Amino acid sequence: MKKIIYIASLLLFYNCSNPLTEKSSQIIIDPNPTSEMAQLMRDMTLKLEGIKTAIENNEVLDENQLDFALIHNQKPTDSSFVKPHIKPMSENFAYSIEQFNKEPSSRNYSTIINNCLSCHQLSCPGPVVRINQLKLNH
Ligand code: HEC
Repeated sequence: MKKIIYIASLLLFYNCSNPLTEKSSQIIIDPNPTSEMAQLMRDMTLKLEGIKTAIENNEVLDENQLDFALIHNQKPTDSSFVKPHIKPMSENFAYSIEQFNKEPSSRNYSTIINNCLSCHQLSCPGPVVRINQLKLNH
């Protein structure tokens, strides 16, 4: 049952556009193949979910365990997603990954998630609900 809810939430929030716009019919007729950038986002989401669980279980976190491609070098679903802020925010994000790799702590984990949110709040609000689920519950 948990799994069904999880998959449903993926379907609802794994998209940049606002689900309330008229785009939905278009998505059914012409489903976009997953872009490089979207695939990277999914991989990061899964990996960080694992780290969140590890932190909540007080497990020892390995150094240098995150290795993500640079977001701004990935091909997006639509070129309109590449707004001027994407590159600087992607660089800030990459910096937060580096800090976590050097010093894997819950504080550095939260900085990563805040960077996900800053970029999404500006350009891609659809997945914000999903990203909020990656926040630590304390
Ligand atoms: C620099 C800006 C930026 C940052 C930082 C960022 N994202 Fe994204 N995200 C995007 C853009 C743009 C898209 C749309 C990509 C596409 O559809 O090609 C996206 C798409 C997504 C999606 C939907 C993927 C899909 O299947 O359509 C998820 C989920 C997501 N991001 C989660 C995250 C998480 C988790 C983080 C932090 C680990 C993060 N994002 C960091 C810009 C960003």
